[in-house]
Amino acid sequence: MVKLIIDTDTGADDAIGLLMAAAHPGAEIVAVTTVAGNVPLDQATTNAGWSLHVAGVSDVPIFIGCDGPLVRPLETATEVHGADGLGDTNFGPSPIGPQHEHAATALVRLAVEHDGEAVLIALGPLTNLAVALAIDPLLLTRFSHTVIMGGAPDMVGNVSDMAEFNIWVDPEAAAKVFDAPGRKTMVGWNVAMSAAQVSRQARAQMAQLGTAAGRFAHDVTAVVEKFCAAELGLDFFALPDPIAVAIALDPSIVTRDQAIGIKVGLGDEARGATFPTWLTPDARATTIVWEADADAFSAQMFAALRRLD
Ligand code: BDR
Ligand code: CA
Repeated sequence: MVKLIIDTDTGADDAIGLLMAAAHPGAEIVAVTTVAGNVPLDQATTNAGWSLHVAGVSDVPIFIGCDGPLVRPLETATEVHGADGLGDTNFGPSPIGPQHEHAATALVRLAVEHDGEAVLIALGPLTNLAVALAIDPLLLTRFSHTVIMGGAPDMVGNVSDMAEFNIWVDPEAAAKVFDAPGRKTMVGWNVAMSAAQVSRQARAQMAQLGTAAGRFAHDVTAVVEKFCAAELGLDFFALPDPIAVAIALDPSIVTRDQAIGIKVGLGDEARGATFPTWLTPDARATTIVWEADADAFSAQMFAALRRLD
């Protein structure tokens, strides 16, 4: 059984990622940590609670983390996810109460308690991980693997020309994480757009499954579907966090990757850009996913939505 710790700024796609992790027969979510990003921190925590509730794992502890980036003001993405981050479904207060321990110290503690066995999946800005690394610089070596949804290694961003949202929101935190020792995989916006597209028809099929998870996934993606059509002229939307979860659960769906260093842009124009580079102390520090199997992703996601009722 793979033990998962999931750090999330729970918007609509994070929510589906949480469902997939909960549904996987070979995985167990041991904790969820929340961070400000797609939505402010308390909304992210509420949304994590609802996601775990729908997934039928209400006993998973939720630890609240940082309410904004290390040095910059918080920028959210409610125009993409809905004012509540979950497609304007307005579920109300969380059905799960959070823990009292801070997410950063929980990450440090849980990494040691699970003795190198747990997989850390980061689905939001990397602020909690950076704070935890300030406490324990070897933190990522105490996980078997850290899978990060973030970055645009092809320099085609979703929030600026070059940058992807999670890294752009807190680039100083991201730089600390990519510089930290430990096994890291980066699942960037490029992978979401190529291998995790959801067409109108596929979204309708989510609801037609007739399960609680299928309806939830359909409903929480209402705003992102509209946003992609109206603002980008797309007849699909992408699911970045779910494909990161899918790759963490089943790395065999990756069809092309590359181990190389990542340098994060901190200046104005390059803010949040993720430059692949050999010019780092450890030139193979991060595995960039370049391509993944779209059919395998879709099959894994629909299997999860079918299983959770
Ligand atoms: C990332 O930003 C959010 O919209 C998603 O949840 C994902 O974490 C994609 O850029
Ligand atoms: Ca996210």
